[in-house]
Amino acid sequence: MAVRAGLIARWRARLPVGPRTPVVTLHEGDTPLVPAPRLARRAGLGPEAVWLKLEGLNPTGSFKDRGMTVAVSKALEAGARGVLCASTGNTAASAAAYAARAGLRCVVLLPDGAVALGKLAQALAHGAEAVMVRGNFDDALRLARGAATGTWALVNSVNPHRIEGQKTAAFEVVEALGRAPDYHFLPVGNAGNITAYWRGYREAGKGRPRMMGWQAAGAAPIVRGRPIPDPETAATAIRIGNPASWKEALAARDESGGLIGAVGDAAIFAAYALLAREEGVFCEPSSAASAAGLLAFARRGGFKKAPKGVRVVLTLTGNGLKDPKSAETLPSRVRRCAADPAAFRRLLGSR
Ligand code: F0G
Repeated sequence: MAVRAGLIARWRARLPVGPRTPVVTLHEGDTPLVPAPRLARRAGLGPEAVWLKLEGLNPTGSFKDRGMTVAVSKALEAGARGVLCASTGNTAASAAAYAARAGLRCVVLLPDGAVALGKLAQALAHGAEAVMVRGNFDDALRLARGAATGTWALVNSVNPHRIEGQKTAAFEVVEALGRAPDYHFLPVGNAGNITAYWRGYREAGKGRPRMMGWQAAGAAPIVRGRPIPDPETAATAIRIGNPASWKEALAARDESGGLIGAVGDAAIFAAYALLAREEGVFCEPSSAASAAGLLAFARRGGFKKAPKGVRVVLTLTGNGLKDPKSAETLPSRVRRCAADPAAFRRLLGSR
């Protein structure tokens, strides 16, 4: 089979597609799993303990493409004329791209003023019709759910085909490591992805990791045990106060012996900088919640009883390029120079 043929081609037998399903694909999936030795050292672990699943290398720059190839293919099969979603940005970008490929209309409901620039640019570039909702993601999802009837297909993760597609990331991790890891860290927003990985690991049948989900402290309904009416975090992808897959996330946590914790924005942004500076991986701030969670868990002695040869996987859910404004908050060094060789030599010699 061709390299990166797309995940329906690769995992067809384990997905809800049939011979008559029109496959809409951008050859998503097959993302790299790379070791993170410096992050591992900071967590007090060996150089081969921590691995990063780089989901930002999917076609539209986030893990959403895994769910979207299945959801849009199934929508087309069912005769939908358009797709609809609420989104903090990545779902919208992905839905827009796959809808463009399928020749479907795409309407995206976005929380006004709380979507990273790159994601909005992507959705608009692909021809999506954007609706800015005066409210947050949870309000937008309520509107989307209420309107998704007739020939409109809802492609949020409440659509079961999304979860089916996203579970393939766990299959790839198992394939790369030869077994499931001992721990899997990932950010939690609407809680579809933690649900999907847990299903994927169970279906792969090669061991079960503890599922370690992380919410932003200002948007941590599952940790607090109640919906948050006005979630707040600069990690806008996970600025969600009432996750649709709440129950499923609790099941993943409890069945796996894992946990769902909260990390503050300062810790999230510190991890975001660390991944970029020390591992050469530029993810978006929300993705860095998984690394912030790893460091918080390690600091409170979570790995004390970890076996030698422990394997820890972190999903980095989205590409750093999506959110240039957040990148501007990173410590950086920019100097101006005349277009003159001597001036540049002087500058190089000074620090
Ligand atoms: N990381 C990124 C980069 C995301 O975009 C999202 C969710 C998450 C993590 C959380 O995943 O919702 O499955 O728990 N983004 C959605 C969106 C809400 O609309 O793009 P989750």
